[in-house]
Amino acid sequence: MCGIVGYVGSLRADDVVLEGLRRLEYRGYDSAGIAVVTEGTVASAKRAGKLVQLETALSESALPASGTGIGHTRWATHGAPNDRNAHPHLTRAQSIAVVHNGIIENFARLRAELEDADYEFQSETDTEVVAHLLDSVYDPATGLAEAMRVVCRRLDGAFTLVAIHADEPGVVVGARRNSPLVVGRGDNENFLGSDVSAFIGYTRKAIELGQDQVVELRTDSITVTNFDGTPAQITEYEVTWDAEAAEKGGYDYFMLKEIAEQPQAVADTLLGRINDDGLLVLDEMRLSDDDLRSVDKIVLIACGTAYHAGMIAKYAIEHWTRIPCEIELASEFRYRDPILTRDTLVIAISQSGETMDTLMALRHAREQGARVLAVCNVNGSTIPRESDAVVYTHAGPEIAVASTKAFLTQVVAVHLVALYLAQVRGTKWGEEIRHHVEQLAQMPSKIEELLTTMEPVREMAASMADAQTVLFIGRHVGYPVALEGALKVKELAYMHAEGFAAGELKHGPIALLEEGMPVVAIVPSPRGRSILHDKVISNIQEVRARGARMIVIAEEGDTDVEPYADVLIRIPAVPTLMQPILAVVPLQVFACALATAKGFDVDQPRNLAKSVTVE
Ligand code: AGP
Repeated sequence: MCGIVGYVGSLRADDVVLEGLRRLEYRGYDSAGIAVVTEGTVASAKRAGKLVQLETALSESALPASGTGIGHTRWATHGAPNDRNAHPHLTRAQSIAVVHNGIIENFARLRAELEDADYEFQSETDTEVVAHLLDSVYDPATGLAEAMRVVCRRLDGAFTLVAIHADEPGVVVGARRNSPLVVGRGDNENFLGSDVSAFIGYTRKAIELGQDQVVELRTDSITVTNFDGTPAQITEYEVTWDAEAAEKGGYDYFMLKEIAEQPQAVADTLLGRINDDGLLVLDEMRLSDDDLRSVDKIVLIACGTAYHAGMIAKYAIEHWTRIPCEIELASEFRYRDPILTRDTLVIAISQSGETMDTLMALRHAREQGARVLAVCNVNGSTIPRESDAVVYTHAGPEIAVASTKAFLTQVVAVHLVALYLAQVRGTKWGEEIRHHVEQLAQMPSKIEELLTTMEPVREMAASMADAQTVLFIGRHVGYPVALEGALKVKELAYMHAEGFAAGELKHGPIALLEEGMPVVAIVPSPRGRSILHDKVISNIQEVRARGARMIVIAEEGDTDVEPYADVLIRIPAVPTLMQPILAVVPLQVFACALATAKGFDVDQPRNLAKSVTVE
């Protein structure tokens, strides 16, 4: 997720764009850049690091005055966050500049074609392909907007593109597929932004671009067409949000926005990971097939929510590869003097890539000769930099301290790692792997569907504001979900909450139960007369017989649970290993609503930091 701004009008484009980027910095902040059209060329400046680095560069060497400009604040997906990979990307002749949000799935093939046509690339990004493609199809007679339509018809993936051309001062062109792009209509000036916060300081008249549409902005006109050139219907609306609300997409908290972004985050994490031959490709998997075939043990290390994703990874990896897997709290790992060899693969899972417990654990693993694969959400952060290979999640910046979309994308990423290992080691064949990835690809729509049914969960949470504790129980991959649900309640509602393996209750914890105590049960799928399902039903009966108030999360169509559920939360039917991707969503919503009912700061809970960079 990146921040994009475009401007055309009588003000200084660099000033307007820079102010818009400041408003969008929450969308990505590992590098930033600006480009303007001036006297037959495009002038630009871009810097790695936070926006302040670009501002410093511009204060030392200002861009020429211009009424036509674009800008970008980056959240890296392809290519490390450095000056070279920062946007905008320009053609060699500095005739075209382009900025991009999203992932172009077929960029490798397009890049090869362009290099065969003697185009030279300066960066490792997928975006630079668009700059050269625009150059290769540009015809002054039909202009930049037509060139954009031609190029967009050749791109696969999710993308928002905004471009300018040296020969078209007063013109900014944008295109949208999946990632958002909004037009701001001004008075003899017009704007583009990833969201309205980029320009509501200037205008509140907005037009949301639709799927597969191109917009051409001039100072006195806004022309929107479909990718095929046919005119597109546009709907203008008045923005009522203030700037802060706009950064949160109109939600009260970043956490709520990030819960809502989960379908897109999962879809983006899957993008571009299957090649034309139907094989999994993990872009920064720098471990060779031989390295992976020699692996005889896997140790997963992580903290907090990432640890719960690691617990799920254990099930997925052992199921698909039959490689023995251990899961270890990163803060405990190196103190138990683990047995590690060159054939041990350590998988370090971290949203921030800066968690010191995890970093110190992976350093220990490497000192012992093990290879390390990172699963991380922040491109170029310390943990992937110090690992042998990395699989990035593409959740975009996660601002709220409580991890939500990062967790879902971590679960998806570890499924991909398990499938990739199976593919390389031949323990699973193409069709099985393709089928599983196709089922993963259905998750975004199922999450979307589930999110529309959360009102009863919010109402239930509000009614429990005075509860003293909440217990969570689950089996198999439902057990890490129970732990994650308890963690969310602890860190947001400052309440005692505890997750248990459902089979453990009778070994002690059941003594905790008192009349009316809320217990959340995550119930496995009943399909195939699952023994797991029947065992959890028995556990629910044990707990209910002792007076608990049962809150049951179960699949649509599972009628066995109905006699024992005081509150029944339905989730779509999915394969067992994927159930955590859905089952955790009501628990996120529940914890957030509980904290809200208690009047706590959902995004910045007390005592917590988003990234724990101390041991
Ligand atoms: C989860 O909601 C917390 N924010 C915390 O447990 C977090 O998952 C943990 O600190 C690990 O962070 P990381 O994923 O950035 O390494």
